[in-house]
Amino acid sequence: MIRPAFPVVITRDDILCRVHELARAIAADHPSAPPRFVAVMEGARVFAEHLCALVPGSPPFTEVRARSYGNGTVSNGRVRVEVPRDLRLDGAPVVLVEDIVDTGRTVEVLTAELKARGAHSVEVATLLSKPARRVVDVPLRYVGFEIPDEFVIGFGMDVAGRYRELPYVAAYRRELEPGAADAGAVE
Ligand code: IMP
Repeated sequence: MIRPAFPVVITRDDILCRVHELARAIAADHPSAPPRFVAVMEGARVFAEHLCALVPGSPPFTEVRARSYGNGTVSNGRVRVEVPRDLRLDGAPVVLVEDIVDTGRTVEVLTAELKARGAHSVEVATLLSKPARRVVDVPLRYVGFEIPDEFVIGFGMDVAGRYRELPYVAAYRRELEPGAADAGAVE
């Protein structure tokens, strides 16, 4: 497959280096035992796999799902979350792993849900944050990179299910889609 030349926003080397730093920070903050990791699928899968592999003991992560974007690049403002029915957190400290915090609504809804499931605390580890887009003021404990208001893809992040496999973070440009000149690409 020929990859469209979307502009690189964060190189793979920079991402991997920063994920190492975040794993070290999480380990230092939880010296006796790793926290419970809960990762938001599908976007945060790649980040969570790299992050958890670098935390001592390589703890697993629990997968949860959240949807607010449909197939486009603009949030519709509603968040639907899916958490395993039998998830019990039994007073554990939880690290919620996100790919990107945009409006903050997903983190807000999931934090409430994880606390309702018994989490002692919920701290957020996100690869990216777009502060300019924030609607809800959610505390972010571990942030990989702050980026401007730009829709990004790669390292697990998608637009309509595509480009997750890009090994770096790139800016999505609809006009760079193959065939964009003669057909509408993504709404
Ligand atoms: P929030 O609820 O508005 O903070 O949105 C968080 C979710 O929206 C993320 O977990 C992503 O799934 C998605 N999202 C927000 N911005 C982007 C982006 O630039 N690229 C890909 N997904 C994004």
